[in-house]
Amino acid sequence: MLDDIDLYLNEHRDAFEHRLREILQIPSISTDSQYAADVRRCGQWVDEHFRSLGLASELIETAGHPLVYAESPSVPGAPTVLVYGHFDVQPVDPLEAWHSPPFEPTLRDGNLYARGATDDKGQMLTHILSAEAWLKTRGALPVQLKFLIEGEEEVGSEHLPPFIKANREKLACDVVVISDCSQFAPGQPAITYGLRGGASFELRLQGPRQDLHSGTFGGAVANPVNVLTQILAAFQNDEGRVQVPGFYDDVTPLSEQERRQFASLPFDEEEFKQQLGVAALQGESGYSTLERRWSRPTFDIMGIWGGYEGEGGKSIVPARAGAKFGFRLVPNQDPHAIARGVRTKIAELCPAGIQWELLEEHGAKAAVVDLQSPFMDAAANAIEQGFGERPVFVREGGSIPVVTTFAEELNADTLLLGWGLNDDNTHSPNEKFCLADFHRGTKASAHLWQEISQLGKDAD
Ligand code: BES
Ligand code: ZN
Repeated sequence: MLDDIDLYLNEHRDAFEHRLREILQIPSISTDSQYAADVRRCGQWVDEHFRSLGLASELIETAGHPLVYAESPSVPGAPTVLVYGHFDVQPVDPLEAWHSPPFEPTLRDGNLYARGATDDKGQMLTHILSAEAWLKTRGALPVQLKFLIEGEEEVGSEHLPPFIKANREKLACDVVVISDCSQFAPGQPAITYGLRGGASFELRLQGPRQDLHSGTFGGAVANPVNVLTQILAAFQNDEGRVQVPGFYDDVTPLSEQERRQFASLPFDEEEFKQQLGVAALQGESGYSTLERRWSRPTFDIMGIWGGYEGEGGKSIVPARAGAKFGFRLVPNQDPHAIARGVRTKIAELCPAGIQWELLEEHGAKAAVVDLQSPFMDAAANAIEQGFGERPVFVREGGSIPVVTTFAEELNADTLLLGWGLNDDNTHSPNEKFCLADFHRGTKASAHLWQEISQLGKDAD
């Protein structure tokens, strides 16, 4: 019975929302170096918050953005839980598409709109607030909590694996908890047991020294924009299959049981199309929409540039062109092998008159976690307490690069407990987080510490 803690959570809803608004006002955009000071300020906010709860906390420098590590006292006989989250956010452009400024959190219809509301400040905060509820009502937590909150997730977590490797003992834990994903649908919470990985690139093409008259020179030299579109188009065939050498060699296929399980979920394609504003869905032949999103590898172009984009026409052969593109990867695919395949492919397709440069942005392996772990039952019970409904088990298509590092370096399974919704507009304009889910998530988290404490030390 956690009546005292549940009461604390209820009585502090306004204070918790105030805290959420505060952190959402900091524009901690990790990919844009102009915001580096704000990313740091956000880390300081998190660090100070931990200290205000009486936890040992430090802001730790890395070669990139800083991270925060905090911990509560150890609890003999009870498991240790490592909570991971991130305080960095994605860029906000296109700014004009936002209905309220991205760093001025605004309440509409029970949702708080701001960049980072769900990804991941709001979700991450639920675990800090649940710790507060325990500490303020009982004076102690029933398990030891270690918090690792980073500022580089949205740019690939480059400096986190070395930190984890160098601090294995400090970070030693029985299970990792992450809330940085979604429920299956409103009113239907979920536990995510798989995430896709990824490999991202920027390709830069250089043709003639400068833009040329397309009448005088067109047809006599390779046009970098033409070449770019040819190369990019060659990465995928009409069936939605990726055309990179060796791309499917290591892919773990979906089991029949998993396909049946996906198919049993109440997924409505019509509703999904409406949500996205598209007339039809499209993807790899032979797979359902959930299979395509959760368990099949894909290719997508994120941005493309080159030539003239201003008003009217301009008859030129442009000097340069470029694109950012990436692949989502599934279990057993290796981002490094994919990068080698991409290089081979571009070398084959790029004509002699064009110089090319390929930048490797970030790579992450896909993750699948053990459904049989006793921690899964603990999480399901806690979610039922917080959300009033038992969770379904899902996979998701996004990536959290560090999950595989936790498995490899700390030998710990991860519980992926998403409090967000698929229509939260993550990485898009008008990102939001449903405040009712913010409070439900905090309650589920408070109950999770209790559930896990009851498993005892050797649960894994
Ligand atoms: N919260 C997402 C990950 C996510 C998205 C999980 C959707 C489940 C469903 C995370 O913040 C994110 O965006 N990760 C990046 C990682 C990349 C930069 C290596 C991603 O998925 O693009
Ligand atoms: Zn994200």
